[in-house]
Formats: sequence, C-alpha cells, structure tokens
Amino acid sequence: MKKKVLVTRKLPDDAMKLLYETCEVELNPYDRVMTEDELIQGLSDKQGLLCLLTDTINSTIMDAGKDLKVISNYAVGFNNIDVKAATERRILVTNTPGVLTETTADLAWALLMATARRIVEADGFMRRGDYKGWGPMLFLGGDVFGKTLGLIGMGRIGCAMARRALGFNMRVLYYDVNRLSLDEEKALSAEYADFDVVLRESDFVSLHVPLVPSTRHLIGARELSLMKATSYLINTSRGPVVDEKALVEALRSRRIAGAGLDVYENEPEMAPGLAKLENAVLLPHIASASVDTRTKMGAMAARNLIAGLAGKLPPNCVNPEVCGKPEYS
Ligand code: GLV
Ligand code: GLV
Repeated sequence: MKKKVLVTRKLPDDAMKLLYETCEVELNPYDRVMTEDELIQGLSDKQGLLCLLTDTINSTIMDAGKDLKVISNYAVGFNNIDVKAATERRILVTNTPGVLTETTADLAWALLMATARRIVEADGFMRRGDYKGWGPMLFLGGDVFGKTLGLIGMGRIGCAMARRALGFNMRVLYYDVNRLSLDEEKALSAEYADFDVVLRESDFVSLHVPLVPSTRHLIGARELSLMKATSYLINTSRGPVVDEKALVEALRSRRIAGAGLDVYENEPEMAPGLAKLENAVLLPHIASASVDTRTKMGAMAARNLIAGLAGKLPPNCVNPEVCGKPEYS
C-alpha cells in the first residue's frame, strides 16, 4: 500500500516523478500557497507532508494530520515549522541542507556587487533612455575588492561567502555563536570578532544565520547605527532577522550606503517606503533558485519524505530524537 502524501506546491519534475512512483500524492492544484483550512483538510488522511518555507506548519495543522509521520521541508531553513510540536507528536521533520550552499552564496555575492556598483539603478537609467554619454560622476558606487566583508553567521553559506571574498582580496571578519577551528579560520583567512566589531569595521555586512528567537531583529536601529555610513547590508537569510522599518529609516537617512535584500520581514509584503529607495536592491527570495539546485532540493526533499515513511531515519532529519522511539528502532 502506497503511503498518502500532501505536496503543497508543484516541485521540479524529477521530484514529482519520484513522489508519484512511491506515494499516493495529493498535489495543491493551484500556483499559490495553500490556506490553513486547505492544509487541515488535505492532511486528514495523510502520512506525509512535503511543504515549502511559505507554509506555516503549527501544532493545529499537525493535529489535523492524525496519521502524519513525516514533514519534509523544501528548504534549508525550517523556521516555518514548529519542530518542538512535531517532536512531541513523534513526527519527523527534514530539510535540504548543503545542496543550496553555493547557489545561495552566488546570489548573495551578486546582491553585494549589484548594491555596491548600483547595477539595477544604472540598468533602469539605460532603459529609460537617460544615458547621454560618459560622465565622470555617473553612478559612482563602492568598491568591493580589498574591502572588509563582515559575515554574521558562519555556517556552510557564511563559509562559502568567505571563500568568494578570497578572490576579491578582502579582509573577512565573522561573528557566530560557534567559532570555527583555527585551521578553518586560516583556510578562509577569516578573523573571528565580536558582533559589534564586525558591524563597526565592515564595508559589507552579510547575514547567514537561521531564524530562531535569538536572531529575530538581530539587526535593528542600534546595530545599523554602529555600521559605517559607507557600508552595505546584504540579507539572504530570513527577513525577520532585520528590523525592516529601522532599515528603511537607515537607508533613507543614508545612515548606511545601501542594502541588498532577498528576504523580507513579512513576505511577500515590504516595509512602507522600501520599494522607493534607490539604494536598495530588492529580489523576490530567489537565493536558491537555479535550475540545478532546485532540482537537487526537490530530489532531496522527496527522498527524505520517502525514507521517513518507510520507517527509516531520513538523511536530513532535524529532530532525529523522534527515531529513538520504539517504532523506528
Ligand atoms: C530558502 O530560503 C531556504 O531556506 O532553502
Ligand atoms: C545553511 O546551509 C548554513 O549552514 O549556512
């Protein structure tokens, strides 16, 4: 008997094929996020859920899935799932780490360069027909090479950023609750520093932390006030890590030079005024959005789900303690 699963949005073809082969799939027929009622309805007879970072999976939804055994998140971040509630209900939760590291760092790097060199503003200028010839003061921006990159969060993606910075001959400062080993720091030419020192001394501050209670509004008015007036903030992590209202104020008053954002505090909304600011480059949460990476994430999410449904420990389980329970032994 195939296990019944709910897939909250159509995923890349390879993943869907794998799921259809091994499970009885109910797929959200719409190209939009499912409502809470639709999730509750859809989960009533399902053992598996394959969901996205746009689905809030709380205890009410879990309780609607009386037979629910596995929640497979199509993302590395899993702040959208109440993992504690899942563990209490002996539901496995999985994510997609590793495969998106380099793709996300590429996008963060693209944002960093686009923000410093005013790429989007300049492109708009060309398209409007405003270019009347070379000018000595036309679109002056900030340099990247040789500057200081401050990484807040030094997991896989933070380290991938540090590797890119080597090619630009940058000084790399980082802060994380976990310090790297001295060998790792040496390999990346990265210096560990206090949070405030990273903010004060960096020309680019790039955020690579997960969203957890201690990182909510990690960057607010106080932190922005510590940053250099010529510095840039890059956020490809999670929107609520930044107090977006305070950021709009800092950009408007030129407290900092610019920001490159891929994530927002209340997606898909933006804080009032943000979209009007020329010193912000704004992307629609596409850091992992390459064809290859989304294909790999899909296969990984499908394999995690299938393994969990077969009573095995999924390769990327975030609450493996659930497997300590007798039914998985
Ligand atoms: C994307 O934001 C992810 O967490 O995979
Ligand atoms: C996520 O993949 C991270 O550890 O940075």
